[in-house]
Formats: sequence, C-alpha cells, structure tokens
Amino acid sequence: MAYLEIRDFRKNFGQCEVLKGVSLSVEQGEAVSVIGSSGSGKTTLLRCIDFLETPDSGEMVLEGETLFSADGRRARESELREKRLNFGLVFQSFHLFPQYTVRKNVTLAPSLLLNARAKAYGKSLTARGVRGSALRAAVKKFRADGRREIEEDAEALLKRTELSQKANNYPAELSGGQQQRVAIARALALKPKVLLFDEPTSALDPVLTGEVVKVLRALKEEGCTMIIVTHEMRFAEKVSDKVAFMADGAIEEIGAPAEIFGDPKSEKLKKFLTEPEETEERV
Ligand SMILES: Nc1ncnc2c1ncn2[C@@H]1O[C@H](COP(=O)(O)OP(=O)(O)O)[C@@H](O)[C@H]1O
Ligand SMILES: [Mg+2]
Repeated sequence: MAYLEIRDFRKNFGQCEVLKGVSLSVEQGEAVSVIGSSGSGKTTLLRCIDFLETPDSGEMVLEGETLFSADGRRARESELREKRLNFGLVFQSFHLFPQYTVRKNVTLAPSLLLNARAKAYGKSLTARGVRGSALRAAVKKFRADGRREIEEDAEALLKRTELSQKANNYPAELSGGQQQRVAIARALALKPKVLLFDEPTSALDPVLTGEVVKVLRALKEEGCTMIIVTHEMRFAEKVSDKVAFMADGAIEEIGAPAEIFGDPKSEKLKKFLTEPEETEERV
C-alpha cells in the first residue's frame, strides 16, 4: 500500500458532479503534480484531502491508517482539526494574517496547538494524582520547552524559505513571492506528513515564480511528500515523480513526466498540452 492512498473520491455540489471517482497513490517523499484545465476539480480534490470538504464517497488512508471513509457520519470539528494536522495546504492567494508579522504568521498555529497540548498534558497529570505546585511546575516546563522548539523551528523555516531578513515585517510589506514563501513556511511549521499546494505560483510573475519554485525544489530534495496543483509545466516536468492530468472531475491520465509530456495518450491531454489555456488568475 502506498504512503497516501486516495480511493474513489466522489463529490457533488448540488447537481454538479465535481469529482467523479478520483483515486491517487502517493509514495513517501514523492512529488505528484496535478495539471488540468480550470474547473476540472483540482482545488476540490485538495480541499477534500485536507478535510475542508467532505467527499460523498471514497476512502483515504495515510501510513496504513484510515483517515477518511464515507460512512455518512459527521465528524466533530475537533476530530477534523486533528486529522488536518497531517496535511499542510498552501493556497493560491497566500491567505496570510495581515495583522501579524512574518514570524507570528509562522508561529501562530503551532502556539495554539501547544496551548491545547499543554492543557491536555495538565489533565493527564491530574488524572495521575499530580497536584499543586508540582503540577504547575510540570505544565510550565512543558510550555517553555514547547515555546523554545516553536521559536527554533520558526527561525529554521524562515532561513529555509530565505525570509530571515523579513521576520519582523508585515505581509503587506512583502512581494507576492515572499508572501507565498511565508505561506509555505507556515504550512511547514505544523510538521505535516503531506504538503498540498494549490497553484502556488499562479498569482506571481516569472521572477517571483522562480523564487517559489526554488523552495519547492528544495522541499522535494529534502524528501517532503507533496501534491502540487500547478500550471508550471516546466516544474511539473522537471521536479515531480508523477504527473496526474485531471479533466472533468476525473484523473484522465497519470504517469511519469516523460510519458505525460512526451507521449500523451488521451485526446484531452494532447489538446491540453497543445492549447494551454490562460489561467484565470493571470488574465
Ligand atoms: N463550493 C462549491 N459549490 C459549488 N460548486 C463548486 C464549489 N467549489 C467548486 N465548485 C465547482 O466545481 C468545479 C470544479 O472546481 P475546482 O475544484 O475549483 O476546479 P479547478 O481547481 O480545477 O479549477 C467548478 O465547476 C466549480 O464551479
Ligand atoms: Mg483551482
């Protein structure tokens, strides 16, 4: 079984059948690019993987553990949040917190998680009979250790995304490429098992695209498992292990980059490769 297995994801929005049975296997350390015309269901697929949408049917297994199985049961929000930690989603339009500095954008989610974990740790100690000053000291140490780790991780992430000089700036003071790199650092801060990118470069001009692609390449070299929806055909060709072509809510063709780009089989893929559309975001 692959590291991540998506089986037969189906999703309707009202009468509109947006995912018509999508299955995808991703091995650990693999980068899978997803290409396809706008409206083919790429974003919906990523949102289903990240528990932002619930597929109507299908199953998802990560490291042998069933994370999702369409059984009609509505999962609790806390359960979804926990499952979502397995994934880091980077959106097309960055979605940074404008009121916070770059550093705080990166440390905020892990800080909230640390608070929740410190509370749970306190409860577990109480259940074991720890009380009073011993309890307070233990929880305080747990928080201090966690805080130090978050800060060290943030410095390392900002360095990796070449943003150390911008740690104290606000998103509005950054270029689009820098903002997208903050979004990548922020997604990495929660140490997800799989990174999901939704057209990370589509809002950027070629120079800024280059900066973001460089970070993606480095992540691939470091062994990150990634699913990348992209219009950057060169990136899909050069960096990914597999390329999936989506059309009308289904994976029409999937294969090694050399096969997809050099020897496409399906008519829809041949047409897509010879008549690339302008992305909506660029017009
Ligand atoms: N929340 C939603 N409600 C209704 N229709 C939606 C919703 N999200 C996406 N769709 C529709 O699903 C189709 C696929 O959308 P999307 O997944 O965004 O495609 P892509 O990312 O490939 O451009 C489109 O026709 C879109 O209008
Ligand atoms: Mg999309």
